[in-house]
Amino acid sequence: MPEWWRDAIVYQVYPRSFADASGDGIGDLRGITGRLPYLRDLGVDAVWIGPVFASPQVDHGYDVADYRAIDPLFGTLDDLDALIEAAHALGIRVALDLVPNHTSNQHRWFRAAVASGPGSPERSRYHFRDGRGANGDEPPNNWRSVFGGSSWTRVREPDGTPGQWYYHLFAAEQPDLDWRNPEVLAEFASILRFWLDRGVDGFRIDVADALIKDAGFPDTPDGHPVIPKDASSPVHDVHRAFRRILDAYPGERTAVIETGADDATVALFLRPDEMPLAFNFRFVHARPDAADLRAAIDASLAANAAVGAPITWVTDNHDTTRSVTRYGTRAALTGAYVPGELRTASGAGADLEAGARRARAMALLLLALPGAACLYQGQELGLPNVDDLPDEVLQDPVWERSGHAVRGRDGCRVPMPWSGDAPPFGFSPSASTWLPQPATWGPLTAERQAGDPASMLSLYRAALRLRRQHRALGRGGLRWVSPGSADVLALDLLVPGETVRVIANFGARPIALPEGEVLLASLPLEDGRLPGESAAWVLPAR
Ligand code: NOJ
Repeated sequence: MPEWWRDAIVYQVYPRSFADASGDGIGDLRGITGRLPYLRDLGVDAVWIGPVFASPQVDHGYDVADYRAIDPLFGTLDDLDALIEAAHALGIRVALDLVPNHTSNQHRWFRAAVASGPGSPERSRYHFRDGRGANGDEPPNNWRSVFGGSSWTRVREPDGTPGQWYYHLFAAEQPDLDWRNPEVLAEFASILRFWLDRGVDGFRIDVADALIKDAGFPDTPDGHPVIPKDASSPVHDVHRAFRRILDAYPGERTAVIETGADDATVALFLRPDEMPLAFNFRFVHARPDAADLRAAIDASLAANAAVGAPITWVTDNHDTTRSVTRYGTRAALTGAYVPGELRTASGAGADLEAGARRARAMALLLLALPGAACLYQGQELGLPNVDDLPDEVLQDPVWERSGHAVRGRDGCRVPMPWSGDAPPFGFSPSASTWLPQPATWGPLTAERQAGDPASMLSLYRAALRLRRQHRALGRGGLRWVSPGSADVLALDLLVPGETVRVIANFGARPIALPEGEVLLASLPLEDGRLPGESAAWVLPAR
């Protein structure tokens, strides 16, 4: 099919939390390979594997020391080759996570930059600046790191004296590259080709919109960084260069970018010569109510239509409070992490049963909307966020950098429960996993849910099966239908010869369904009516 990615279902694997084959309590590549049949049975088109490259793991791999090597924690290059081969044999494509905005401070380039001193070509690959104040002991400007604190850290010069400062949008161990230096693009072009040559089908690109900073580094009223993303920003040339590399390979290699920008700005990155896909964070942050969801859907569809690009719908990822917990409140939904801005979202007060009902309804919306969709591991199991992890096990750098004010994202990264009645629930041969799993997760294991037709996993499997059978799902043009109530969303998805109606009832009371065949409902119908907080797919009677 041309441009397979336009309606692809991508499954996000967070490597340290998916499956552990080695027995060290941390997930790894062989663990992922062993669970590929599960992904085939779920019915996904592609798997995006979070960063597995050599890394000190300060930000769990989003601090890369060597972009062409696998971290021993996760295995070897041979293990990755074997994973790719096994995935392809099952019809699943593989995307890796490219982290171009920053390297690790242990990357050979950064070490050379520190060792080489001010004004050196080595320093010009990063953003080194002299400090302010009499002795240069104040940071060059007032920009704040996403993870808390200043965005600048001072180095010692080779002669031991306190020296220049370097810029980091995230942690101090994640120095930002200077993408105005052509050497940086040349290096990443080579890295892309290295992995494409090994058979990788594409990339998820981290912080893709933030590669270019205002070179004047001006102070700002609120300490927000100035990161040009407008139509003429040089950041778009980077993405054009990436696209040319992808397109030079056979097999429709692709990329999905992370950008926290507004809809219109995201669309700029999806112009025909730039990136194929971008996560839709507007949808992540929409409240589970009809008005907010419709506004989010309309705004995103309009923005992307202007550039002819599909939308990549998302509700969950490894940076965001899990949706079962988020949807357990009606408050404005915030993740633990929004690119460019940190926010807290505690599960305190969330009604997890209501959250699970709404998450089921949202699954039917997510998987019907035209475009691609990305599922985060455990979403298909309805895992809640784990908000009561003991302080001493927290690992997200946000926790330390915020002076223990923000607990960070560990709560959505707890290892997957696969089977059995007690931790480690089949995740690892070892009982001690890198984050502890709640002892109450027995009913949530994949094994238990696979045997229960009413489970979240069964709902996802059924929905993905129907999506393959009915072209209108995920591919049809969208036409809103008058819902009859402010709490209800109703829309038709249309392809020639087929219409599927999606009805999502976010109110409390059951509503009548249109005449026709109910393909799937997220909760059992009540006397033929659609219960509150549920959704259905219907083939309307002609
Ligand atoms: C976005 C990633 O999703 C997040 O996990 C990471 O901390 C930051 N980028 C920095 O790389």
